[in-house]
Amino acid sequence: PRKIIIDTDPGQDDAVAILLALASPEEIDVLGITAVAGNVPLELTAKNARIVCELAGHTHIPVYAGCDRPLSRALVTAEHVHGKTGLDGPVLPDPEMPLADGHAVDFIIDTLRAQEPGTVTLCPLGPLTNIATAFQKAPDIVDRVQEIVLMGGAYFQVGNITPTAEFNIYVDPEAAEIVFKSGVHIVVMPLDVTHDALVTKHRNEAFRALDSKVGHAVAEMTDFFERFDMEKYGSEGAPLHDPCVTAYLIRPELFSGRHINVQIETQSDLTLGMTVADWWRVTDHLPNAMFMGEIDADGFFDLLTERLARL
Ligand code: BDR
Ligand code: CA
Repeated sequence: PRKIIIDTDPGQDDAVAILLALASPEEIDVLGITAVAGNVPLELTAKNARIVCELAGHTHIPVYAGCDRPLSRALVTAEHVHGKTGLDGPVLPDPEMPLADGHAVDFIIDTLRAQEPGTVTLCPLGPLTNIATAFQKAPDIVDRVQEIVLMGGAYFQVGNITPTAEFNIYVDPEAAEIVFKSGVHIVVMPLDVTHDALVTKHRNEAFRALDSKVGHAVAEMTDFFERFDMEKYGSEGAPLHDPCVTAYLIRPELFSGRHINVQIETQSDLTLGMTVADWWRVTDHLPNAMFMGEIDADGFFDLLTERLARL
């Protein structure tokens, strides 16, 4: 299995991404989960990550708290999407498992130094603050990363927090810039992909029909998410963003895209956090990211439902 660190700000869709990884031990070995401030403040994301591990029955996974604010800006949160707790919808008990000792950034650094070079994949599902801080603090780890597979950005699909920016990149554009310029091989799941991964009524019912604790919890999470997205986007269901990352590790062939140059806007007030993706390769800037553009949504939801049934 592929060794990964999940860096996350749960978030209902983060929660489903974590559940999918934990349900897939043949393909994915979760070395640890690092929480970052994003959808809600750090205290809540660090708590929610543990709630999700306990829901899955995987209380041995170490969960670390990381950065509580972006590198150089005030934190922007998204309670309007995820609710006050960040995980509104299901009623889940407070976690009993403690946070692991130490800072998430040090866990990322120590893990990359301890494992064979090129064997650990980073999976950021929130703002890139923890990852960028680790790269700044310990530049020697950058070359040891196997790959970064992240959810963030948008191109044709434009923004969801401003007209041109996607939330994860917008919250900490300076961190995103460090990551996209790091030279590490990056796979990006932008809104262009995730807005095709819609939880329709039928797909939501399939989660509920699992008739397990996890199945009900996931259905309630996506129910909550749904209300907001139907109002806002008028789409048939809510986009299930972050699970695209963990699904890619299991079935990469569900996704297709282009290896292109992607740069982050950090200056302009108007387009701050925009992922300027050279989709048509109109510049000679070297490619730095595999920017996905399409998903086999039915295949993705079949995989997800099949795996959640294992928990
Ligand atoms: C991203 O922002 C968060 O609200 C979601 O969890 C996802 O990671 C989508 O823009
Ligand atoms: Ca997220």
